[in-house]
Amino acid sequence: MHEATRIALCGKGGVGKTSIAAIMVKLLTAGRGRKVLAIDADPAFGLAGALGVTVRKTVDDVRKDLIARIQRGEPGVGVQTLKLLDYEIFNALHEQDGFAMLAIGRPEDEGCFCKVNSLLKDIIADLSDRFDVVLIDGEAGVEQINRRVMKTVGHLVLVSDISAKGLAVAETIAHVARDNHAVAFSDMGIILNRVRASHEVEDIRGRTRLDIYGWIREDDLIREYDFRGKPLTDLPGSSPAIGVVSDILQRIA
Ligand SMILES: Nc1ncnc2c1ncn2[C@@H]1O[C@H](COP(=O)(O)OP(=O)(O)O)[C@@H](O)[C@H]1O
Ligand SMILES: [Mg+2]
Repeated sequence: MHEATRIALCGKGGVGKTSIAAIMVKLLTAGRGRKVLAIDADPAFGLAGALGVTVRKTVDDVRKDLIARIQRGEPGVGVQTLKLLDYEIFNALHEQDGFAMLAIGRPEDEGCFCKVNSLLKDIIADLSDRFDVVLIDGEAGVEQINRRVMKTVGHLVLVSDISAKGLAVAETIAHVARDNHAVAFSDMGIILNRVRASHEVEDIRGRTRLDIYGWIREDDLIREYDFRGKPLTDLPGSSPAIGVVSDILQRIA
């Protein structure tokens, strides 16, 4: 059976996961005609905006709708729930500019996020055979790794800024993914973001055993796009960040 290349971006909040994910989607959809599914797995959203997409329905919306229909006793819904769920999730896919996008959403009720996460885990596994590449912009921290949401991800891309805290979160994720077999990855590495001088990278290289896939400079243009609310998919091809991410994709996807 056809299996998609599954890539997940994980790390501390605010380190650049969403920005890098958006650049990856831009590169993956350019030219080669591959079917790409981008999943915003962060309840704080972000990827949609970075891609210039308006999300109408999230995975959590689909889940809530379905629960409401079951509670109303709609005929057929109970027995066919799983099929229906598949169908509804497929309907919630937002297609634009050569890629499809799905957002996990933000459950308001306490304690619900784990249910959405388990749904997400199935979605990653189930939808994957309909795409060539599935790219997941992960929630900040280690929770989704712990809960095995990323179990079937082959390429685990950690992201960190140069802060000790960011690196510590990446190390924790790597540890849980590897030692608890929470992710069945074939390769894992880290992208260092917002670097100001190459000696920062060399210093970190001396302190970590993580494979450093590449590093991205603190970039005024990314700041500017952020400031104006412009999607990062509009970044010019000459942007240094695009060059770095392109090299990394060549290596892993
Ligand atoms: N290389 C960079 N140079 C300058 N600003 C950046 C860079 N990478 C990310 N940013 C900015 O940092 C902030 C956090 O980035 P984001 O991608 O949303 O992080 P995350 O998804 O990990 O929380 C955003 O405002 C983004 O524009
Ligand atoms: Mg983000």
